[in-house]
Amino acid sequence: MTTSIAESAGKITTHVLQRMKENKEKIAMLTTYDYSMAKLLDMAGIDVMLVGDSAANVMAGHKTTLPITLDQMIYHATSVVRGVEKALVVVDLPFGTYQGNSKEALHSAIRIMKESGADAVKLEGGKEVAESVERILSAGIPVLGHLGLTPQSINKFGTYAVRATEKDEANQLIKDALLLEQCGCFGIVLEKIPANLAAQVTDKIKIPTIGIGAGSDVDGQVLVLHDMLGITQQFSPRFLRRYHDLSLEITSAVKRYIGDVKSLDFPNEKEQY
Ligand code: KIV
Repeated sequence: MTTSIAESAGKITTHVLQRMKENKEKIAMLTTYDYSMAKLLDMAGIDVMLVGDSAANVMAGHKTTLPITLDQMIYHATSVVRGVEKALVVVDLPFGTYQGNSKEALHSAIRIMKESGADAVKLEGGKEVAESVERILSAGIPVLGHLGLTPQSINKFGTYAVRATEKDEANQLIKDALLLEQCGCFGIVLEKIPANLAAQVTDKIKIPTIGIGAGSDVDGQVLVLHDMLGITQQFSPRFLRRYHDLSLEITSAVKRYIGDVKSLDFPNEKEQY
């Protein structure tokens, strides 16, 4: 049996991801926000961990990703990096830390890299962030793009519905993908767009595409960890496959603990000094 590119790599780098695309080996990415989960995901063999600004939703309970700060992202990223040996760790630049101008974008990206020890940053948008992407790259920081549904723009979109279903927006998305590739991004996340558009983009660009709600003809997939493990319950878009129902397991374990404490069953003689 031949070993895969990811399996034979000591550490997953952006170059390994590029080789995976060239060899049609799919890239598996999940969001991660803390040390313990990062350790488990690394042991399981995930290729890429995204310290997503979805931490604002699933870790902090905000309705959108907008409130999370750069300091909070660095805290999550630092915790994840401590738990990782092999996976590539990518960190989201949070809302308000790169849209102003490219110098601010570079400053934010440098803080993330210096303070957390992560491998790369991700930011949302196409031509409007191209200058920032180039400036961050010129400092030697790998950048992952993000097109389609870009949750930091939710107040502009007004809805989390599928993007680029109309020709104009689809054409713009293709142009943006080509531009991000030209700027030097090592990959692009495509969120919630028609599968045939994601397939076209994947075919047109040489760097890997990572889809979330973008069908199967992309180079890799990403899901939010808490959603795919069934820790979050309210959120169930069509693209989400739940691999477990951890909320049920956690509440049942906690209920048993409460019962044992109240009934004096815990701790027993062997569980004390
Ligand atoms: O923050 C996040 O979790 C993301 C993924 C949805 C791609 O950006």
